[in-house]
Amino acid sequence: MPEGELEGRVALVTGASRGIGRAVALELGRAGARVVVGYHVRREEAEAVAAAIGDARVVELDVTSSASCEAAVAAAEAWGPLEVLVNNAGIVADHLSLVMSDEEWTRVLETNASGCFRMCRAALREMVRRRSGSVVNIASLSGIRGRAGQVNYSASKAAVMGLTRTVALEVARRQVRVNAVAPGFIVTDMTRSLPQPVLDGALSAIPMRRLGTPEDVAPLVRFLAGPGARFITGQVFVIDGGMGV
Ligand code: NAI
Repeated sequence: MPEGELEGRVALVTGASRGIGRAVALELGRAGARVVVGYHVRREEAEAVAAAIGDARVVELDVTSSASCEAAVAAAEAWGPLEVLVNNAGIVADHLSLVMSDEEWTRVLETNASGCFRMCRAALREMVRRRSGSVVNIASLSGIRGRAGQVNYSASKAAVMGLTRTVALEVARRQVRVNAVAPGFIVTDMTRSLPQPVLDGALSAIPMRRLGTPEDVAPLVRFLAGPGARFITGQVFVIDGGMGV
Protein backbone atom coordinates (compact mmCIF):
# COMPACT_ATOMS: atom_id res chain seq x y z
CA MET A 1 0.00 0.00 0.00
CA PRO A 2 1.49 3.38 -0.93
CA GLU A 3 2.18 5.76 1.92
CA GLY A 4 0.28 9.01 1.82
CA GLU A 5 -2.48 8.29 -0.68
CA LEU A 6 -4.95 10.14 1.57
CA GLU A 7 -2.56 13.03 2.23
CA GLY A 8 -4.39 16.01 3.73
CA ARG A 9 -7.86 14.53 3.26
CA VAL A 10 -10.28 14.79 6.17
CA ALA A 11 -11.63 11.42 7.32
CA LEU A 12 -14.25 10.81 10.03
CA VAL A 13 -14.42 7.45 11.81
CA THR A 14 -17.32 6.69 14.17
CA GLY A 15 -16.68 4.68 17.35
CA ALA A 16 -12.93 5.20 16.92
CA SER A 17 -11.78 5.18 20.53
CA ARG A 18 -11.20 1.42 20.52
CA GLY A 19 -11.33 -1.82 18.56
CA ILE A 20 -11.74 -1.83 14.79
CA GLY A 21 -12.56 1.89 14.66
CA ARG A 22 -9.32 2.74 16.46
CA ALA A 23 -7.25 0.58 14.11
CA VAL A 24 -8.97 2.17 11.10
CA ALA A 25 -8.36 5.70 12.41
CA LEU A 26 -4.65 4.92 12.93
CA GLU A 27 -4.38 3.32 9.48
CA LEU A 28 -6.05 6.31 7.77
CA GLY A 29 -3.63 8.52 9.69
CA ARG A 30 -0.72 6.48 8.29
CA ALA A 31 -2.17 7.07 4.82
CA GLY A 32 -1.84 10.81 5.47
CA ALA A 33 -5.46 11.59 6.34
CA ARG A 34 -6.41 14.26 8.84
CA VAL A 35 -8.58 12.11 11.07
CA VAL A 36 -11.65 13.08 13.08
CA VAL A 37 -11.85 10.48 15.83
CA GLY A 38 -15.53 10.00 16.71
CA TYR A 39 -16.16 8.76 20.24
CA HIS A 40 -19.32 7.97 22.13
CA VAL A 41 -18.26 7.97 25.78
CA ARG A 42 -14.51 7.38 26.07
CA ARG A 43 -13.06 10.81 25.36
CA GLU A 44 -9.67 10.07 26.92
CA GLU A 45 -9.14 6.99 24.77
CA ALA A 46 -10.19 8.95 21.69
CA GLU A 47 -7.70 11.68 22.58
CA ALA A 48 -4.98 9.05 22.87
CA VAL A 49 -5.85 7.79 19.38
CA ALA A 50 -5.77 11.37 18.04
CA ALA A 51 -2.42 11.99 19.73
CA ALA A 52 -0.98 8.84 18.16
CA ILE A 53 -2.08 10.05 14.73
CA GLY A 54 -0.87 13.62 15.17
CA ASP A 55 -2.97 15.54 12.64
CA ALA A 56 -6.26 14.51 14.26
CA ARG A 57 -9.17 15.79 16.29
CA VAL A 58 -11.82 14.19 18.46
CA VAL A 59 -15.55 14.72 18.23
CA GLU A 60 -18.32 13.47 20.53
CA LEU A 61 -20.79 11.50 18.47
CA ASP A 62 -23.87 9.42 19.25
CA VAL A 63 -25.12 7.78 16.07
CA THR A 64 -28.58 7.25 17.58
CA SER A 65 -29.12 11.02 17.39
CA SER A 66 -29.58 12.79 14.05
CA ALA A 67 -28.54 16.09 15.64
CA SER A 68 -25.32 14.53 16.93
CA CYS A 69 -24.54 13.05 13.50
CA GLU A 70 -25.15 16.38 11.79
CA ALA A 71 -23.00 18.20 14.36
CA ALA A 72 -20.10 15.74 13.97
CA VAL A 73 -20.15 16.07 10.18
CA ALA A 74 -20.32 19.88 10.52
CA ALA A 75 -17.31 19.80 12.86
CA ALA A 76 -15.36 17.73 10.34
CA GLU A 77 -16.38 19.99 7.44
CA ALA A 78 -15.27 23.03 9.45
CA TRP A 79 -11.77 21.54 9.43
CA GLY A 80 -11.77 20.81 5.70
CA PRO A 81 -13.83 19.03 3.04
CA LEU A 82 -14.90 15.65 4.44
CA GLU A 83 -13.60 13.10 1.93
CA VAL A 84 -13.82 9.85 3.87
CA LEU A 85 -16.49 8.56 6.26
CA VAL A 86 -16.10 5.22 8.03
CA ASN A 87 -19.29 4.07 9.77
CA ASN A 88 -17.88 1.74 12.37
CA ALA A 89 -20.01 2.36 15.49
CA GLY A 90 -21.89 -0.76 16.46
CA ILE A 91 -23.22 -2.76 19.39
CA VAL A 92 -24.48 -6.23 20.21
CA ALA A 93 -27.26 -7.32 22.59
CA ASP A 94 -27.44 -11.07 22.04
CA HIS A 95 -30.42 -13.21 22.96
CA LEU A 96 -32.33 -16.01 21.30
CA SER A 97 -35.24 -14.64 19.25
CA LEU A 98 -37.88 -16.13 21.51
CA VAL A 99 -36.65 -14.22 24.54
CA MET A 100 -35.36 -11.05 22.91
CA SER A 101 -37.01 -7.89 24.24
CA ASP A 102 -38.30 -5.06 22.06
CA GLU A 103 -35.72 -2.83 23.69
CA GLU A 104 -32.81 -5.11 22.68
CA TRP A 105 -34.13 -5.36 19.14
CA THR A 106 -34.66 -1.61 18.78
CA ARG A 107 -31.40 -0.56 20.45
CA VAL A 108 -29.27 -2.65 18.09
CA LEU A 109 -31.19 -1.67 14.95
CA GLU A 110 -31.14 2.00 16.01
CA THR A 111 -27.37 2.05 16.53
CA ASN A 112 -26.10 -0.25 13.79
CA ALA A 113 -28.55 0.29 10.94
CA SER A 114 -30.22 3.65 11.57
CA GLY A 115 -26.94 5.12 12.86
CA CYS A 116 -25.20 4.18 9.63
CA PHE A 117 -28.05 5.71 7.61
CA ARG A 118 -28.00 8.95 9.62
CA MET A 119 -24.26 9.36 9.14
CA CYS A 120 -24.50 8.65 5.40
CA ARG A 121 -27.28 11.20 5.00
CA ALA A 122 -25.35 13.83 6.95
CA ALA A 123 -22.03 13.33 5.16
CA LEU A 124 -23.18 12.66 1.62
CA ARG A 125 -24.84 16.03 1.13
CA GLU A 126 -21.55 17.88 0.77
CA MET A 127 -19.76 14.94 -0.89
CA VAL A 128 -22.40 14.87 -3.63
CA ARG A 129 -22.17 18.64 -4.07
CA ARG A 130 -18.38 18.42 -4.39
CA ARG A 131 -18.55 15.27 -6.53
CA SER A 132 -15.96 13.56 -4.38
CA GLY A 133 -15.91 11.23 -1.39
CA SER A 134 -15.83 7.68 -0.14
CA VAL A 135 -17.93 6.00 2.55
CA VAL A 136 -17.00 2.66 4.09
CA ASN A 137 -19.61 0.95 6.27
CA ILE A 138 -18.61 -1.78 8.71
CA ALA A 139 -21.12 -4.60 8.27
CA SER A 140 -20.52 -8.18 9.47
CA LEU A 141 -20.41 -11.77 8.32
CA SER A 142 -23.38 -12.13 10.70
CA GLY A 143 -25.40 -10.05 8.23
CA ILE A 144 -24.73 -12.62 5.50
CA ARG A 145 -24.94 -15.89 7.42
CA GLY A 146 -27.33 -16.55 10.27
CA ARG A 147 -25.96 -16.76 13.78
CA ALA A 148 -28.11 -18.09 16.63
CA GLY A 149 -28.55 -15.49 19.36
CA GLN A 150 -27.91 -12.52 17.07
CA VAL A 151 -31.25 -11.92 15.37
CA ASN A 152 -31.12 -8.17 16.03
CA TYR A 153 -27.45 -7.86 15.14
CA SER A 154 -27.62 -9.91 11.96
CA ALA A 155 -30.75 -8.03 10.81
CA SER A 156 -28.98 -4.73 11.50
CA LYS A 157 -25.88 -5.72 9.52
CA ALA A 158 -27.97 -7.05 6.61
CA ALA A 159 -29.59 -3.60 6.65
CA VAL A 160 -26.16 -1.96 6.49
CA MET A 161 -25.32 -3.98 3.37
CA GLY A 162 -28.69 -3.17 1.77
CA LEU A 163 -28.36 0.52 2.42
CA THR A 164 -24.77 0.45 1.16
CA ARG A 165 -25.89 -0.83 -2.24
CA THR A 166 -28.83 1.56 -2.55
CA VAL A 167 -27.02 4.68 -1.39
CA ALA A 168 -24.11 3.74 -3.69
CA LEU A 169 -26.49 3.72 -6.66
CA GLU A 170 -27.99 7.05 -5.63
CA VAL A 171 -24.67 8.90 -5.52
CA ALA A 172 -22.60 7.06 -8.14
CA ARG A 173 -23.23 9.65 -10.87
CA ARG A 174 -21.61 12.22 -8.59
CA GLN A 175 -18.45 10.08 -8.32
CA VAL A 176 -19.08 9.40 -4.63
CA ARG A 177 -18.46 5.78 -3.60
CA VAL A 178 -20.11 3.72 -0.86
CA ASN A 179 -18.84 0.26 0.06
CA ALA A 180 -19.03 -2.10 3.02
CA VAL A 181 -16.64 -4.41 4.80
CA ALA A 182 -18.01 -7.54 6.48
CA PRO A 183 -15.56 -8.87 9.07
CA GLY A 184 -15.86 -12.36 10.49
CA PHE A 185 -14.60 -12.93 14.02
CA ILE A 186 -12.32 -10.12 15.24
CA VAL A 187 -10.83 -9.92 18.74
CA THR A 188 -12.07 -6.66 20.33
CA ASP A 189 -14.01 -5.63 23.46
CA MET A 190 -17.13 -6.81 21.59
CA THR A 191 -15.92 -10.42 21.38
CA ARG A 192 -13.24 -10.75 24.09
CA SER A 193 -15.75 -11.34 26.89
CA LEU A 194 -17.51 -14.23 25.13
CA PRO A 195 -17.36 -17.58 26.95
CA GLN A 196 -14.31 -19.71 26.10
CA PRO A 197 -16.38 -22.42 24.33
CA VAL A 198 -17.74 -19.75 21.95
CA LEU A 199 -14.21 -18.48 21.24
CA ASP A 200 -13.00 -22.06 20.70
CA GLY A 201 -15.95 -22.70 18.37
CA ALA A 202 -15.15 -19.57 16.36
CA LEU A 203 -11.52 -20.59 16.06
CA SER A 204 -12.35 -24.04 14.75
CA ALA A 205 -14.76 -22.47 12.21
CA ILE A 206 -12.02 -20.30 10.71
CA PRO A 207 -10.03 -22.13 8.02
CA MET A 208 -6.98 -19.91 8.67
CA ARG A 209 -7.05 -21.15 12.30
CA ARG A 210 -6.70 -17.82 14.00
CA LEU A 211 -9.07 -15.10 15.14
CA GLY A 212 -8.92 -11.80 13.27
CA THR A 213 -7.50 -8.59 14.68
CA PRO A 214 -8.55 -4.97 14.08
CA GLU A 215 -5.25 -4.55 12.23
CA ASP A 216 -6.39 -7.22 9.75
CA VAL A 217 -9.46 -5.13 8.88
CA ALA A 218 -7.96 -1.63 8.74
CA PRO A 219 -5.90 -1.97 5.50
CA LEU A 220 -8.99 -3.03 3.55
CA VAL A 221 -10.87 0.02 4.80
CA ARG A 222 -7.88 2.18 3.86
CA PHE A 223 -7.88 0.72 0.37
CA LEU A 224 -11.61 1.28 -0.13
CA ALA A 225 -11.35 4.83 1.20
CA GLY A 226 -8.54 5.73 -1.18
CA PRO A 227 -7.90 6.34 -4.86
CA GLY A 228 -6.91 2.72 -5.56
CA ALA A 229 -10.61 1.84 -5.22
CA ARG A 230 -11.83 4.67 -7.46
CA PHE A 231 -14.01 2.42 -9.67
CA ILE A 232 -15.41 0.27 -6.84
CA THR A 233 -18.82 1.10 -5.38
CA GLY A 234 -21.83 -0.66 -3.89
CA GLN A 235 -19.78 -3.71 -2.88
CA VAL A 236 -19.46 -5.74 0.30
CA PHE A 237 -16.04 -7.24 1.04
CA VAL A 238 -15.86 -10.16 3.46
CA ILE A 239 -12.71 -10.34 5.60
CA ASP A 240 -12.88 -13.45 7.75
CA GLY A 241 -9.96 -15.87 7.31
CA GLY A 242 -12.24 -18.03 5.19
CA MET A 243 -14.96 -18.47 7.87
CA GLY A 244 -17.83 -17.69 5.48
CA VAL A 245 -16.52 -19.66 2.52
P1 NAI B 1 -16.18 -2.29 20.09
O1 NAI B 1 -17.29 -2.57 21.02
O2 NAI B 1 -14.77 -2.35 20.57
O3 NAI B 1 -16.38 -0.88 19.37
C1 NAI B 1 -17.62 -0.34 19.04
C2 NAI B 1 -17.50 1.15 19.01
O4 NAI B 1 -18.78 1.72 18.70
C3 NAI B 1 -17.08 1.74 20.35
O5 NAI B 1 -16.08 2.70 20.17
C4 NAI B 1 -18.36 2.38 20.88
O6 NAI B 1 -18.14 3.49 21.71
C5 NAI B 1 -19.01 2.80 19.57
N1 NAI B 1 -20.44 3.05 19.74
C6 NAI B 1 -21.37 2.25 20.33
N2 NAI B 1 -22.56 2.86 20.34
C7 NAI B 1 -22.39 4.07 19.75
C8 NAI B 1 -23.25 5.16 19.46
N3 NAI B 1 -24.54 5.16 19.80
N4 NAI B 1 -22.72 6.24 18.83
C9 NAI B 1 -21.43 6.28 18.47
N5 NAI B 1 -20.56 5.29 18.73
C10 NAI B 1 -21.04 4.20 19.36
O7 NAI B 1 -16.39 -3.32 18.91
P2 NAI B 1 -15.64 -3.62 17.53
O8 NAI B 1 -15.52 -5.08 17.44
O9 NAI B 1 -14.45 -2.75 17.37
O10 NAI B 1 -16.78 -3.18 16.50
C11 NAI B 1 -16.62 -2.19 15.50
C12 NAI B 1 -17.58 -2.48 14.37
O11 NAI B 1 -17.22 -3.72 13.75
C13 NAI B 1 -19.03 -2.66 14.83
O12 NAI B 1 -19.90 -2.09 13.87
C14 NAI B 1 -19.20 -4.16 14.85
O13 NAI B 1 -20.53 -4.55 14.69
C15 NAI B 1 -18.34 -4.56 13.66
N6 NAI B 1 -17.93 -5.94 13.65
C16 NAI B 1 -17.18 -6.49 14.64
C17 NAI B 1 -16.80 -7.82 14.59
C18 NAI B 1 -16.02 -8.49 15.66
O14 NAI B 1 -15.86 -9.73 15.60
N7 NAI B 1 -15.50 -7.76 16.63
C19 NAI B 1 -17.17 -8.67 13.44
C20 NAI B 1 -17.93 -7.99 12.44
C21 NAI B 1 -18.28 -6.67 12.54
